[in-house]
Amino acid sequence: MKKIVRVNCVDFTFDGQGLAKDNSGRTYFVPSLLIGEEADIEVLYHKKDFDVGKINKIIKFSPYRVTPKCPCATACGGCSFQNLDYKKEIEYKRKVAINTIKSIAKVDANSSQVFGMKEPYYYRNKIQVPFGYDKQRRLVYGFYKFKSHDIIPISECVIEDESHVEILKTIKELMLSFKIDAYQEDYQKGILRHVLLRVGKVSKEIMVVLVVSSLRFPSKRNFVKALIEKCPQITTVVFNENPRKTNVILGEKEEIAYGKGFIFDELLGVKFKISAKSFYQVNHDQCEVLYSHAIKKAKLGKEDKILDAYCGIGTIGLIVSKKVKEVFGVEIVKEAIIDAKENAKLNNIKNANFICKDAGDYLVENKFDCVFVDPPRKGLDSKFLDSLIKSKVKKIIYISCDVGTFSRDLKILKDYYNIDSIDFVDMFPRTYHIETVASLSLKK
Ligand SMILES: C[S@@+](CC[C@H](N)C(=O)[O-])C[C@H]1O[C@@H](n2cnc3c(N)ncnc32)[C@H](O)[C@@H]1O
Repeated sequence: MKKIVRVNCVDFTFDGQGLAKDNSGRTYFVPSLLIGEEADIEVLYHKKDFDVGKINKIIKFSPYRVTPKCPCATACGGCSFQNLDYKKEIEYKRKVAINTIKSIAKVDANSSQVFGMKEPYYYRNKIQVPFGYDKQRRLVYGFYKFKSHDIIPISECVIEDESHVEILKTIKELMLSFKIDAYQEDYQKGILRHVLLRVGKVSKEIMVVLVVSSLRFPSKRNFVKALIEKCPQITTVVFNENPRKTNVILGEKEEIAYGKGFIFDELLGVKFKISAKSFYQVNHDQCEVLYSHAIKKAKLGKEDKILDAYCGIGTIGLIVSKKVKEVFGVEIVKEAIIDAKENAKLNNIKNANFICKDAGDYLVENKFDCVFVDPPRKGLDSKFLDSLIKSKVKKIIYISCDVGTFSRDLKILKDYYNIDSIDFVDMFPRTYHIETVASLSLKK
């Protein structure tokens, strides 16, 4: 029998779920419930300290509730805030980030700015879409349901680039006509696992990566030929083989089936080559806002020697190269370093050097005037932090996509560095994520 409870939403969790209380003060996590709303919820799971529920009926609505642009907004695990006014969303994300910094790093970030997006939709230039089957064994593609591996069929997503819709639809039709099976995780059977799409915002070039369990894809040539005939806007098609039982999407081996195997794009006037495996920020316009802000805060001088640590394809380093004497970029993925070196040549930049190495190992051996760090979600590793502190670099610009690990690292750095500013850029509108940019200067 359904258990229905009346609750009031008092806050959001870090991942954008409503945090609600009943009369007795018990806590409930309820996706899509907004602060200030009262609702009857159905309890889905009962735990010792809290329950998880779903909205049954809203009794009192928030004045900031809006109709989601996407019909699957509640079911799909991608967006948390499609039902909330965008101005409120960024205000709330700023508040959560400030609280996290306060509680972990014991640093006050109340004077921070948040840079939102003018039109917070259709911004994602990259998606990775799983293909599989529904309960009736029909071929589907879409996104994973919140905290599960069930695919919610989605033909159109309002945070993705609009070019993706037609291509995914065509791939599904071709799979049916060429009798290509989708991969089934549980039985480790079938061939097509994911489709990765990447579009250059400025170049308009489109890359399709077909992630397959084996490169022995039946009628490979004819399949690709038919795909290009139906979608001539595609500029390159790559097969990526991933035979392993894993959540990691891309495998090691690749085969270019059409075009040059990569795309170009442009950021702040610099041209970039992007391969299937290289990291490239998903929101082009907000990435320009982020980098411009980070570079402004660095207050670079003509004689400065800069380190772009965790440099990916060299974006930050190449963009700042014109303002400084020399740039060094360090990155662990070899394909990204190959791209970074080519990107320097492509833009005729002669004062940038790229090294494929662990960022911590590299920093121990070298000295810089300013270090830009832009690590993955797990933040800076202890080796890198140690080297950074020992190097006594005068200026650090820390860009982070995870405010929790950023705060953990800041707690250590603040003993050696003044925190000149902490700001936020909304790189991922409608989701709970937000990017942090901090500017630190060495204590005298
Ligand atoms: C958030 S991305 C930033 C890339 C780049 N700055 C940009 O904005 O496009 C983090 C990068 O760090 C790289 N990386 C992860 N661990 C590393 C390590 N130990 N040493 C060097 N690079 C690493 C990843 O491969 C990835 O390209």
